[in-house]
Amino acid sequence: MENFKHLPEPFRIRVVEPVKTTTNEYREKAILESGMNPFLLDSEDVFIDLLTDSGTGAVTQDMQAAMLRGDEAYSGSRSYHALANAVKDIFGYEFTIPTHQGRGAEQIYIPVLISMREKEKGLERSKMVAISNYFFDTTQGHTQVNCCKAKNAYIEDAFDTSVNADFKGNFDLDKLEYAIQEAGPKNVPYIVSTITCNSAGGQPVSIANLKAVYEIAQRYDIPVIMDSARFAENAYFIQQREPGYQDWTIEAITRETYKYADGLAMSAKKDAMVQMGGLLCFKNEKFLDAYNECRTLCVVQEGFPTYGGLEGGAMERLAVGLYDGMRQEWLAYRIAQVKYLVDGLDEIGVVCQQAGGHAAFVDAGKLLPHVPPHQFPAHALACELYKVAGIRAVEIGSLLQGRDPETGKQYPCPAELLRLTIPRATYTQSHMDFIIEAFEKVKERAAQVKGLEFVYEPPVLRHFTARLKEV
Ligand code: F0G
Repeated sequence: MENFKHLPEPFRIRVVEPVKTTTNEYREKAILESGMNPFLLDSEDVFIDLLTDSGTGAVTQDMQAAMLRGDEAYSGSRSYHALANAVKDIFGYEFTIPTHQGRGAEQIYIPVLISMREKEKGLERSKMVAISNYFFDTTQGHTQVNCCKAKNAYIEDAFDTSVNADFKGNFDLDKLEYAIQEAGPKNVPYIVSTITCNSAGGQPVSIANLKAVYEIAQRYDIPVIMDSARFAENAYFIQQREPGYQDWTIEAITRETYKYADGLAMSAKKDAMVQMGGLLCFKNEKFLDAYNECRTLCVVQEGFPTYGGLEGGAMERLAVGLYDGMRQEWLAYRIAQVKYLVDGLDEIGVVCQQAGGHAAFVDAGKLLPHVPPHQFPAHALACELYKVAGIRAVEIGSLLQGRDPETGKQYPCPAELLRLTIPRATYTQSHMDFIIEAFEKVKERAAQVKGLEFVYEPPVLRHFTARLKEV
């Protein structure tokens, strides 16, 4: 099929979920009743749901079949070993703890790595600073809840939607070194390499960059944790873009990638394609103490360490999903689908971040230049998109960014983006065409779209439950 312009969906759809169509009037009322917050809509009232690709995609028949093999023993189950063996085979990591999702892993490793620093080196956690290319919100949240600061060391162009680059998710290595020196190396309990970099638009990180980060970390004796939600998409971009990897398989690139970390935390709801599940793994004996402390904390937080947050069947499903998510033709199709959407939006003059792995990120700041950041242009755009077409998307901008707890001031935000997140194998090309058409209509009305102000502002993680009204 080499000579075709377009690769169609490389799967057959055999189970479908009906969705309801609604009228303009119905949607106007629904979004008003939801406090102008798409998070508070009922999924029944959504025609195309682009809130997230997390646990919302299709699963493969092999994953579904694997669930029936579940060994539900409380300890040492066969299903645990199936999962731990898959981890060893794919990532080369010795020690595995299953968790209920990504943040389940975070609520274990983050307090453990911080308290180990405290105990071993007699340091105060209030002076500690953890560093990432860009922390996902829950990873940042767990870091801060444990009284450690979180610092992002992203490259200058990461959020500039007018600049294209192969690896916009990379760390700025100078900023990383500077942040380590500024805090004092002992005060850095961990570095998190997020692949792909979700917050910057699903942008990949190169192996060369991950390797350089790891070398710096080793020099200062700082553990590196790979935040692995979209590890397979990252490997695909490396294969397509990084010199020297064109002939490598996704599996080989993945193995190579994980040499440059000491542990991994994974939301398996993305590239591993499960509806619910996560992983916390350590590479080798050097991290045996951390692993053991994590196992202890796992018992009280998630469950006995050989099931953590998962039932036996779910561990079997995840073991298969890790492999299925790395299929070459599958990743080629998925990345092409996102690019198709971004190209279509670009063609009608809707500026996006360059196409990344899991979503199109629309530059709402450019589409609604009359709405200032403190009136949340990307969130206003989300409401408009829902009204026009029943499409639910998510703001990645000032609303999500929040306020500095000490000063109460809104944190400055590098860009006002609207994320159109594509669940795996759930929507077809004709859905992408419909989304592009919806944006044509939104664009016509853009000048009339009003900014938003709070009716209710939650103190933290405000985008989930805030209620707003038009200014
Ligand atoms: N790390 C990254 C990079 C993520 O994207 C997510 C979740 C997590 C950690 C936390 O994992 O949700 O399984 O607890 N991202 C979802 C999203 C929610 O919509 O991007 P979780």
